[in-house]
Amino acid sequence: MAAIVVSLASSFAVSSSSSPSLLFARFRAASTSSFRLSFAVSPFFNSKRGKLMAHTLARATLGLTQPANIDVPKIAFAAKDIDAVEWKGDILAVGVTEKDMAKDENSKFQNSILERLDAQLSGLLAEASSEEDFTGKSGQSVVLRLPGIGSKRVGLIGLGQSASTPTAFQGLGEAVAAAAKAAQASNVGIVLASSEGLSAESKLTTASAIASGTVLGIHDDTRYKSESKKTALKSVDILGLGSGPELDKKLKYAEDVSCGIIFGRELVNSPANVLTPAVLAHEALKIASAYSDVISATILDAEQCKELKMGSYLGVAAASANPPHFIHLCYKPVGGPAKTKLALVGKGLTFDSGGYNIKTGPGCSIELMKFDMGGSAAVLGAAKAIGQIKPPGVEVHFIVAACENMISGTGMRPGDIVTASNGKTIEVNNTDAEGRLTLADALVYACNQGVEKIVDLATLTGACVIALGPSIAGVFTPSDDLAKEVIAASELSGEKLWRMPLEESYWESMKSGIADMVNTGGRPGGAITAALFLKQFVDEKVQWMHIDMAGPVWNDKKKAATGFGISTLVEWVLTNSS
Ligand code: BES
Ligand code: MN
Ligand code: ZN
Repeated sequence: MAAIVVSLASSFAVSSSSSPSLLFARFRAASTSSFRLSFAVSPFFNSKRGKLMAHTLARATLGLTQPANIDVPKIAFAAKDIDAVEWKGDILAVGVTEKDMAKDENSKFQNSILERLDAQLSGLLAEASSEEDFTGKSGQSVVLRLPGIGSKRVGLIGLGQSASTPTAFQGLGEAVAAAAKAAQASNVGIVLASSEGLSAESKLTTASAIASGTVLGIHDDTRYKSESKKTALKSVDILGLGSGPELDKKLKYAEDVSCGIIFGRELVNSPANVLTPAVLAHEALKIASAYSDVISATILDAEQCKELKMGSYLGVAAASANPPHFIHLCYKPVGGPAKTKLALVGKGLTFDSGGYNIKTGPGCSIELMKFDMGGSAAVLGAAKAIGQIKPPGVEVHFIVAACENMISGTGMRPGDIVTASNGKTIEVNNTDAEGRLTLADALVYACNQGVEKIVDLATLTGACVIALGPSIAGVFTPSDDLAKEVIAASELSGEKLWRMPLEESYWESMKSGIADMVNTGGRPGGAITAALFLKQFVDEKVQWMHIDMAGPVWNDKKKAATGFGISTLVEWVLTNSS
């Protein structure tokens, strides 16, 4: 095992101004250091192949674009047991339901927090809220600049009829973030008008949902803008939901997961000329070096994938000037062996042109196909969070067969037959159904790690977007137990999943006249036939789930990545930890 350190600056900085020789020098110097980053298959950076990757990374980016090195703003969260009315700072935000807005016959609030605030403000709160037609509906908010109390501003944030879901409290956090941005506030206090009814457990999940909504709402990806404003928000006090070590731990968890989500969003937002397969692999290596006590990395180049007979994956990669990189991170808990072994597999197409079956015509969204590595962003975002949280008793493999789907004389033609690493042959009747071809070899590799359960995530089919729309992912699994586990995790994270049928009779359309199967079965049930295709590459003894996240990977309104999948994956890994 080689002992190597990869000590590099943050976000994708390696492909920047560093000259190749400087890069080599850094890698060489690094390889003598004592940091631990093990390479199970090849000592990466001091091999010929490592130099090849260093070359790829050092080459000037097409278009000369370099993301700015912007630190994610650090916001300090604290749960405090002080009276909200006494709180001092820039904005006191009160989460109110429609019920909380009820007034008595003298037009006074019946809710005690609102009533006491209003009394201190000589009735201005009641007056302003009715003038602005604020009724507590979800999505409504008013922020008033008022003299008279410790807080400079008071905000009322609508929670709807009755707030109980993580989504509602994340929404509260996001609304607070928007208000804080608008007022350039550096500190805010957040309180619920009524929190008396909440159990101790729901106080914890509510506080953490508010915190993650705030962090994610504050974050703007400005790395590709030539100018950007700094975030002013420094601290957030969560009031009235208790205090103490348990709550602090939960807030820390929310912060760790949010950090993974922001990382995942940045990966997806990055254009394909910047985020090549080599850069994605490099980002994975940086995770391994940051958490070298628990995470090790293996990166395979095309040559090594060929030795493993990954013909299906390599077929997709064959047209590219940017070579493929097969990424494998392994999390092993400190202090003893794991009782459960899991694998998370993500589709990592840094760009999907469609290949010879090129994406054409209105609505094909070829210009958005940088997001076709959303599954891999979910997997690597989860890896980052898991490296930080360090759950005991569970081993996790993070696997991505990263490549591009391009067009050139060396590329795969429609009608070509490729052979996957489990020996199965595939007639490629459509080069645009490439994700499943890469996942085939990634799933075989995952099964070879001796894992009990696999979840794969992929922006796999337009058909799934037609079926479930932009905010719900489709889940496919033969295992009711695994379905239960992952769906329970998604209820905690607030991400929307919907189980779809794995209708075996539809396999009929995937039969080939000449090979074991084709890769495309036509439009009807397109998300189902894609899932059935993946199933051909999973060991029957392994519990497996496929998540088609083609809809929720991207927020069309914000023109930005969502970071979908990460919070559910981390919750799921924790349910498998001891
Ligand atoms: N990456 C696309 C799926 C996709 C399409 C995601 C639109 C998000 C928005 C995938 O590789 C693809 O092209 N799938 C084809 C499959 C077809 C050829 C069977 C599709 O959905 O059209
Ligand atoms: Mn495609
Ligand atoms: Zn694709």
